Amino acid sequence: MTNRFGKIFTFTSWGESHGNKIGCVIDGAPAQIKLTESDIQYYLDQRRPGQKLTSPRNEADKVTIESGVFNGITTGAPISLIIENNNHQTKDYSDLKDVFRPGHADFTYYHKYGIWDYRGGGRASARETAMRVAAGAIARKILPNNIKIDTIIEQIGSLKAGNIDWEFAKNNIMRCPDKESLHSWQEYLEQIKESGDSVGAILQVRIQNVPIGLGSPVYNKLDANIASAIMSINAVKAVEIGDGFLLGKSYGSASNDQISIDDDKIRFHSNSSGGILGGISNGDDIIVRFAVKPTSSINKPQHTINTNYEAKTIQITGRHDPCVALRAAPVAEAMLACVLADHYLLNKNSKI
Ligand SMILES: Cc1cc2nc3c(=O)[nH]c(=O)nc-3n(C[C@H](O)[C@H](O)[C@H](O)COP(=O)(O)O)c2cc1C
Repeated sequence: MTNRFGKIFTFTSWGESHGNKIGCVIDGAPAQIKLTESDIQYYLDQRRPGQKLTSPRNEADKVTIESGVFNGITTGAPISLIIENNNHQTKDYSDLKDVFRPGHADFTYYHKYGIWDYRGGGRASARETAMRVAAGAIARKILPNNIKIDTIIEQIGSLKAGNIDWEFAKNNIMRCPDKESLHSWQEYLEQIKESGDSVGAILQVRIQNVPIGLGSPVYNKLDANIASAIMSINAVKAVEIGDGFLLGKSYGSASNDQISIDDDKIRFHSNSSGGILGGISNGDDIIVRFAVKPTSSINKPQHTINTNYEAKTIQITGRHDPCVALRAAPVAEAMLACVLADHYLLNKNSKI
């Protein structure tokens, strides 16, 4: 398995959904950065389960810094982080030990490795994403602090936000950008949860104040790394940069981002490229859209097979997110912070 992310700012994560602990080692973080556990905790609290409309698995996700920081300042040594798993309930999964959950990774893990950790999916569980968020908190410290990363949920199932208000989205747990829609979105998700089903969603991440020049042609393009980082998040099945798929039915005359100089400032008339040209940031906002599939674990009967290839019916009653988008948002922001920090250091050190 590949458990390491990044080129010079790297993190290697370890731990399973139902193990004692999860953790990661971050390498390549420069010395002399102020870093405390609460800097990391701030972001972990946004991803934590046990909050309204998310999985009721109630983990505190308290992080400890085990190495690489002395008197609140990074030393340049590897930074090791640990979180204890306190609220795993293995009994929730004992009846699933030889049946493959449709839509989850059991089938492929079993056929590849001959074994899988049926207790919540082991490494395939989104428990692992806590360490991405922790690494992302450190990545943000490397980036210039005017870089802002924000996420909205544009669409949840069939409900699409009419109005996009980024400030409004910052202040509600659903990251709904439309004041008029928030209440109906909450009711919709409650209904989905009540019915034992799940639903997918489309999210948009906007990164502001990115300097020109991050990214490296030809095989280490910024957009290629972003797509890979986002696609590596559990349940993500589509990624777009800028106007993405829309460009496939557009015209050059409409989609080229024309350029002017106004008062000595460069201005792009539009941003269909999503802030990246030739794999390198052009200084405009980086826009990333992605879709998460509906949570695979649902409390409804579904057809499957067991490890003896016998037909079975499965109905999953454990604790699950009705829509993973709410908790995927901080994970996506963290992954993008890691990609940018990696490119920022590459660019700063050698303009590779
Ligand atoms: C934040 C987050 C929370 C998730 N929670 C659940 C969950 O409660 N139940 C579940 O079946 N899948 C959940 N998933 C999705 C699975 O981890 C994922 O579907 C599984 O690993 C299979 O991988 P794939 O969907 O990327 O192919 C979650 C994903 C994310 C990003």
